[in-house]
Amino acid sequence: MTPIKKVIIKKDVSIKPIWLMRQAGRYLPEFREIRKENPDFIKLCLNQKKAKEITLQPIKRYDFDAAIIFSDILMVPYGLGQSVKFRKNFGPQLGSLNFENIMNYEANDFKRKLYPVYKSISLVKKSKLMDKKDLIGFIGGPWTILLYILNRTSPKRKLKKALSDKPLIIDLLKYINKYLKLHIQNQIKYGADIIQIFDSWAGLVNEKNLEDYIYNPTRKLVKEIKNLKTPSVCFPRNINNYKDYTDIIKPSVINIDYQTNPKNIIKHINIPIQGGMDPRVLLTNKKRLEKITNYYLRTFENHPYIFNLGHGVLPQTDPIMIEYLVKLVRKFNERAS
Ligand code: CP3
Repeated sequence: MTPIKKVIIKKDVSIKPIWLMRQAGRYLPEFREIRKENPDFIKLCLNQKKAKEITLQPIKRYDFDAAIIFSDILMVPYGLGQSVKFRKNFGPQLGSLNFENIMNYEANDFKRKLYPVYKSISLVKKSKLMDKKDLIGFIGGPWTILLYILNRTSPKRKLKKALSDKPLIIDLLKYINKYLKLHIQNQIKYGADIIQIFDSWAGLVNEKNLEDYIYNPTRKLVKEIKNLKTPSVCFPRNINNYKDYTDIIKPSVINIDYQTNPKNIIKHINIPIQGGMDPRVLLTNKKRLEKITNYYLRTFENHPYIFNLGHGVLPQTDPIMIEYLVKLVRKFNERAS
């Protein structure tokens, strides 16, 4: 059994595996090298050989316990026929999409458009580097995906009116879930060992809409992942109540953000926990990194825990700091064994 599966399935507290969100990305010179020659990000995600290579870059460098497939949560709107572009210093920009498109979209067209992602998953799985490691597939949370589809850009810039039409949102979430389900099924079919749900904008939903916008649609997807005998990890960024969230949605693992107090969370939550450390700690110095890393490891010493961050690795991170982080986590594991 892989170290991560031991934590999730056996609730093993004696090992603390490590992987990082956005571990394949702009902080790595070898990624930037490939990116320079591939200005179209979506096209790069659909390039099977390159996607495999990028997925394995951090595994080669750091020997993490899991690889996460190089793709993006916005591949789902792309699969639904919406154009998706990444402009430098602007973030994602999506094209227009009428609602009938979402409602009547052919499942086969969706699958055909995203087939290269599934193919990359099977290529990564075949690599020798993946022995005793898990491959993480992922989707965006239904709410986060709908938000990007309707808002067409990051909500940090503006929030469109359509996002306050409750009956419309509930209706559209149902349709989006159909494709998210397909995307989950296919990633597992082609070799994903675990599915992580990134609900990056869950924190924007107010209390009275949580059931309809977050709990209800996400619970269905987590159930689907469970039916496929695969562990699920949920990352509902910026929510206030992790206890309600985990009690209602019942994922296998919950990823906490860096605003969450780790000592507090273990008092309320029984399931395995992942992540938490602020990625900005990696921008400081080795001494501070050691202090905070050990704080998380010690806090979760007696709780099933997968080391990760409370958000993705920042592009300006020095790769040497990641190397040091992995060393610290491995050292802690040796001490405990
Ligand atoms: O290493 C990994 O984690 C695997 C691949 C991955 C990417 N994006 C690659 C990527 C994953 C899991 C994601 C998730 C994702 N994508 C989320 C959820 C997590 C979060 O950050 O909240 C969201 C909201 C997106 C949408 C998205 N894609 C944004 C906001 C951006 C940044 C745009 C920018 O200009 O900064 C992306 C682009 C993106 N996705 C990059 C990578 C490596 C950078 C692309 C580049 O090289 O310019």
